[in-house]
Amino acid sequence: MLSVRFGTPAEFAAVRNILIGAGFTSTNVSERGDVSDIYKFRTVGEGRKVGLEIRDRLDLLVRLFVDCLAVRSAQVDQFLSREDLAAIEALGLLDRHPEDPDRYASTVRLYPTAALFIASDLETQAPGRALADELEPPDHVFSAITTLTGTFLGQIPETPCDRFLEVCAGTGIAALRAASTARHAWALDITERSTRFAEFNARLNAIENFTARQGDLYDPVRGMTFDRIVAHPPYVPAPSVDMIYRDGGQDGEQISRRILAGLPEHLEPGGRFYCTWMTTDRKDAQLEQRVREMLGEQDDEFDLVAVTHQAMPPGEYYGRLAAAGRISFAQAEERYQLFRDLGAERMVYCSLALQRHTTTRRAFTIRRESAEGSGSNQTEWLLGWCTTLEETDTLAELLEARPRLSEHARLHVTHRVEGGEWKVDASEIRLQHPFVRTIELSLNSAILLTLCDGDRSIREILERVKVTGALGAEVHEQAFAEFVRVLIGEGVLVLAEPLLSVETQ
Ligand SMILES: C[S@@+](CC[C@H](N)C(=O)[O-])C[C@H]1O[C@@H](n2cnc3c(N)ncnc32)[C@H](O)[C@@H]1O
Repeated sequence: MLSVRFGTPAEFAAVRNILIGAGFTSTNVSERGDVSDIYKFRTVGEGRKVGLEIRDRLDLLVRLFVDCLAVRSAQVDQFLSREDLAAIEALGLLDRHPEDPDRYASTVRLYPTAALFIASDLETQAPGRALADELEPPDHVFSAITTLTGTFLGQIPETPCDRFLEVCAGTGIAALRAASTARHAWALDITERSTRFAEFNARLNAIENFTARQGDLYDPVRGMTFDRIVAHPPYVPAPSVDMIYRDGGQDGEQISRRILAGLPEHLEPGGRFYCTWMTTDRKDAQLEQRVREMLGEQDDEFDLVAVTHQAMPPGEYYGRLAAAGRISFAQAEERYQLFRDLGAERMVYCSLALQRHTTTRRAFTIRRESAEGSGSNQTEWLLGWCTTLEETDTLAELLEARPRLSEHARLHVTHRVEGGEWKVDASEIRLQHPFVRTIELSLNSAILLTLCDGDRSIREILERVKVTGALGAEVHEQAFAEFVRVLIGEGVLVLAEPLLSVETQ
């Protein structure tokens, strides 16, 4: 049963004003929890040792709704007026604790995130969970402040779009956030419970250009197309579906595969798709090729950027889960066998960004490893850069560009002993931004990159290179421009000014 109630617009507005008035923002709540962002918030139940006192209204809201701990009526009365309490109760957000009527406990978890107030189900580890309908209902509404949702949101650009669709929406977080820049946003979920929470969250935030619908993947929007589609599907490999938000079938890809297969029908040309999930590199096909197979016959209409967050062999992955007590060793063995039989070399937790072309051309496919703090800006830059290279003749512009060597570039040189002397064995540039990357480069090439100071054009640098002979007797413009082009795409060289329409990274 749903505990929250769809009150009147005035009741929603009253609760919203209480939250705003108390400074219930993700920055303030994170500060009270002594964490750098809301995705790292630890509840008292999870062992937090700071911010335990209730000194003001914000502390009270954190204790009730984020920690989900019961609070004595006297303390609630100290910081909430009778009217405020009535407004909160009118939406069914607070109730008397069933075992101790002198205390109030929340019926949902409610938190500020992405400049919104979001409600989801009480967590099983939260002591206030006794008020949840069941301890772990299969249709449990997934929290929007897990690091997983944080990673998913971090990969979606907050740029304007026309029709935004979130499938597997849970609380509706991505669609609700997008509603501030999209003309209209849709949130779809297979469970009635999630759909109602998404609708509740829309009303709590007074968002009107938003529609929540219940159904299997794209079923509720049959015949409709969108210019942005996003998904954070269930992807945990599981033989049966016990938790709808989590279990993705035997190989974890049952839902994701159908989401990708539906893109040719629902994503408009020029539109983009963003997804964070777990998949596998297999002996016979790496994840990029597997994604292309899932897209079906029209896969050549889609460019693909895969940004990996974590990758490890199945044995290690399940060994770690079992060691952490998240699954039994018997389950780990069973899962490991399954993935070995599937020829899986690595379990890969990654984000995909797919772009449907507007013109007929070759599709590009790129994989990068995410760096600390990297997100949609970096992926958008890469997509934009590669698109420009595919769709325009950049040679002339490139020769006039004035790149600089990235301040993140580090040159690593190894030496070996030969004839009693140290000789350069290998040299490579390593980057931690915009992605984690290692690029093999001759020492001569690496050294001449220091000429890229943001003032000299590529043409001027080429003239200098020709005079010094650092790259051999003859260096042609075309080949040099190609070399520069690759280094820009790798993030080693940075354009000080946008080239054609591509912004700098
Ligand atoms: C991991 S949660 C993600 C929720 C939210 N997007 C987020 O990132 O916080 C996955 C969601 O997918 C929904 N789901 C599972 N199977 C589905 C299906 N076949 N069609 C639509 N939604 C589905 C679940 O109910 C759950 O809300």
